Amino acid sequence: MNENLEASWLDIKAKLTTIFYTLSQSIDGFSDDFDPEVRVADSRFGDFQVNGVLRFAKGKGENPRELAQKLLIRAKECEELSSMELELSGPGFINIRLSALFLGRWIGNFCGRCDISQWLSGKTIVIDYSSPNTAKQMHVGHLRSMIIGESIQRLLRFCGAKVIRDNHIGDWGTQFGILIMAIKRAKVNVSAMDEATALDEFERLYREGSDLAKEDISALDEARKELLLLQRGDSENLKIWEAINGVSYRAFEEIYRQMDVTFDYVLGESFYRDKVDHVCDELESLGIAEEDNGALVVFHREHERFRTQPFLIRKSDGASNYATTDLATVLYREKEFHADEIIYVTDGRQQDHFQQLFLTVERWFPLKDISIPILKHVWFGTVLGEDGHAIKTRSGESIKLKQLMEEGIGRALAIVEEKNPSFPEEERRKIARIVAIGAIKYADLSQNRTNDYVFSWEKMLAFDGNTAPYLLYAVTRIHALFRKLALTPNSGEHGLSAVVFSTAEELALARQLINFPPTIKQVLEDLRPHYLCTYLFELASEFSSFYNGNRILGEDEDILEKRLLLCRFTLYVLEIGLHLLGIETLERM
Ligand code: ARG
Repeated sequence: MNENLEASWLDIKAKLTTIFYTLSQSIDGFSDDFDPEVRVADSRFGDFQVNGVLRFAKGKGENPRELAQKLLIRAKECEELSSMELELSGPGFINIRLSALFLGRWIGNFCGRCDISQWLSGKTIVIDYSSPNTAKQMHVGHLRSMIIGESIQRLLRFCGAKVIRDNHIGDWGTQFGILIMAIKRAKVNVSAMDEATALDEFERLYREGSDLAKEDISALDEARKELLLLQRGDSENLKIWEAINGVSYRAFEEIYRQMDVTFDYVLGESFYRDKVDHVCDELESLGIAEEDNGALVVFHREHERFRTQPFLIRKSDGASNYATTDLATVLYREKEFHADEIIYVTDGRQQDHFQQLFLTVERWFPLKDISIPILKHVWFGTVLGEDGHAIKTRSGESIKLKQLMEEGIGRALAIVEEKNPSFPEEERRKIARIVAIGAIKYADLSQNRTNDYVFSWEKMLAFDGNTAPYLLYAVTRIHALFRKLALTPNSGEHGLSAVVFSTAEELALARQLINFPPTIKQVLEDLRPHYLCTYLFELASEFSSFYNGNRILGEDEDILEKRLLLCRFTLYVLEIGLHLLGIETLERM
């Protein structure tokens, strides 16, 4: 093997897959549908395992162990695998253990340059996330879409995709009928409202209006008329609507600034208001949509449930809805952005909506000769309080994000003040902000997104366990070491080829580092950032064992160099990893 590893070895798992596949193709009994299914192995058995022979042989009625044996013989003759230990195990697995020499070369070669910006290059991906509704403050329910969406978009971008971040704000919904009715009844002058309290005021007015509409049919009627007036472009109602949206957008901006979330486009539902009628007409004339009790709907007859439960795209009163807007939005994104893929990040309750939307697009676009983008619904569960129910304030309301962040920062500040009383005030505040926001994000991302998760300040702010503070602390520990040596962590030699790791901790840390690229690939496949969290947590733990068990200072030059190399690489991966989760890092805390 060359002193310098080729870039194709960056993702060892993928490289092994290619090699084993190629080898298999010249062996009797294998065919081109063989998938080696290379997996990261349990460390007792090796680093990787070729798992696929078993499934393949069973499918073909062959003996798996015999086939695996043939593959093994060929692999042992393969020059590229010469620095690995290979052995047959179980009913037909091949265990692969990388040599210390290989690990040393890999680490020396890829330290500071895990360039995976080719993986998705040439792909245009639109990601639709956050997307709150106006006239209300953002609350806990809005956290997950923002946090998960931000992390996914960073990952896609890091892997080379052209990512278009589009915030599909709900600024044209039925909430405005009720709200305008209530505003007019209370004779509120929207242009003279105090910005600081305006959203609270709108929320109060909305509650008042909707209570009224429930009791009093004439109020409900009034609300409907106000909505219709707005939709027809009545200037007074438009003015009220603009005032409400202005306040809302500015409040969202403030949250995004604190959460370090940015968008390329904010094309709210209202942007599509002149595009929805055309969609309905077209779907009807193409025979995809049909009338059903005065409404326009799409049945998906091949689907178990949607055969009888149609996708409603125009209500019987002629009003378009959320579905119509989403149809117009897919079309726009395809035409204007040339999206290869569109990802929607919302809670799990919208699964039916998106399934019906996707099924409709799959029937609609081919008839227009438009290619169908890959459509993905990345959904997530609910944020629970410590009592196991959806998280609420004591009085039963949703917790506002603004308060939540303030509380987090306050709690983190108390911790920082206790740990580092000597740090300047400004720095303590900065640390507290990064720790608190990082903790909120990490607690969310480290859970499998399709599960509900319990929001607990104690757990997320703890310095031990799978938490943001633990990882942030690991980062600062490595920075502290380099400061002590008066070195900068990202300088130093790359491409050291002579390092050979020897202690158990060095080897274990090196083995964890090589799994960074396959972990990123796994996250991309499933769009589940918790794989990355688990990986980083394990990396920080391996680093900790290494650092506690292996002296770095006071060792001779060779040992110092190779251990510093591991420190550099660990820092590099931890910092990139946290950045991909949307989490800022610190040099000391
Ligand atoms: N505004 C919606 C909500 O609050 C989310 C919108 C998601 N995006 C979309 N294109 N439907 O539930």
